[in-house]
Formats: sequence, structure tokens, C-alpha cells
Amino acid sequence: MFTPLKTSMLGRATENGLLEINIINPRDYSKNKHKKVDDYPFGGAQGMVMMPQPLFDCIRENSLQNSKIYYMSPRGKLLDFAKIKEISSISEATVLCGHYEGVDQRVLDEFDVEEISIGDYVLTGGELAAMVLVDTVARMIPGVLSGEESALEESIYSGLLEHDQYTQPRDFEGTFVPEVLYSGNHGLINLWKLEESMKITLERRPELLRQFLEDENNWSGRSKAEKKVMEKYLQLL
Ligand code: ADE
Repeated sequence: MFTPLKTSMLGRATENGLLEINIINPRDYSKNKHKKVDDYPFGGAQGMVMMPQPLFDCIRENSLQNSKIYYMSPRGKLLDFAKIKEISSISEATVLCGHYEGVDQRVLDEFDVEEISIGDYVLTGGELAAMVLVDTVARMIPGVLSGEESALEESIYSGLLEHDQYTQPRDFEGTFVPEVLYSGNHGLINLWKLEESMKITLERRPELLRQFLEDENNWSGRSKAEKKVMEKYLQLL
């Protein structure tokens, strides 16, 4: 199930020693002869609940209690950019996944586990959510993204949605790449990118644009022309 973490960018990051991912199966720690890890919930409810014993043993035998432990759950705090940055600053983290079920609360209490949700919908298991967390946290690690890629762009215009992207050819079946992008004028290109980012953010996520424009840090170091388009978008909000 965790194969995606071994391929592409994350695979390369692991090979380059920037990232280490260990996958541990709680079933291997069950003392039950059928390797059972879950049971019916007390009080009656649908689904199953992961029992404390396999998880306590799994955590203790791997000394995972020394790392920050997260549990993927729709009940958790939303995984947003602030949380991603926070997790990426930690050198070792453990991500606990439930499957079809919840986890006995005593596990969460004993190890001071933080619940994290990736959105207001329910998945059949925490594994996909855990992979979302690992992927997005990993790309914050310096060197994981190749060269000048996206991180730079994101840090310049962080807080805004990205502008449209184009590649070759300039003319495809009579539709054209905006001329400014191959003008060679970097001042104009950056201005275009900023304005397009603000335009798309206004249309799709106006609350993000407001946040962006109300943050003084986003105004400092801007050219006159940039400030002018930012003022224009402040009026449009
Ligand atoms: N497990 C099931 N649904 C989830 C969600 N939305 N976020 C995180 N973990 C989950």
C-alpha cells in the first residue's frame, strides 16, 4: 500500500539520504494467536476498534514514544500549511493509521498522540491520509525538490494559488501562450505571475487573497508596479 512513498521524488530523496521511511505493521506485535489487532467497540457502534496491546507494544519496542506521534483521523486538526511546516521541522515523526476503524483512546492518551485530518471526508483507512502527510512534509525538506523547482515560486507568492502554466509549443492548434512569458523581460513576467495568481485566488479562494493582502510582509520589497496591482486587487475584494 505504501509503494508510492518509494517511487519518484520521495524514492530519490530516500536514496539520497534526505528522508528515511520505516513501515511497521502492528499485526506483527499482536499477542493473539490469530494476530488479531481489533475488536468490537464497547457501547456498540459500527466498525471495529484497534486494541491497545499491539499498538502499545509496537510503539514501545520501536521506541516510537520518543518521537512525535500523529494519528490520521477525520476527527483531527486539519493538515494545513502551518501544520505541514511544523511537522517538517521535527526530525522524527510517527504516523499511526487506522484501517476501517478507530483506535482505542488509551493509545492516544498514553502517547500524547495528535490527531490529524486531511479534510472533511472519510477514507476507508488512514494509509492514504498518511501518505498525503508524508509527501507534503517531505517536499518541505531542503533538497527533496529538484533545483529551482516550485519551492522558490511558492515562497515568493506563498499564500496565493499558482498562476496558469504553459510549455511548448507557443501555438497549439491556434491557441497561444501569453506573449509576456517569452518576452525575456523578467520584471514583466513576475508582474504577470503575481497578477494571475491574485486573479485566480480572488476567483477561487477570496479569503486567501484577503489574508495575503492584509499581511504587511507580502508588501515589503515589492516594486511600484507590483504594489499597484496589489492595491487594485485590494479594491476588488
Ligand atoms: N482516516 C479516514 N478519513 C481520514 C481523513 N479525512 N483524514 C485523515 N485520516 C483519515
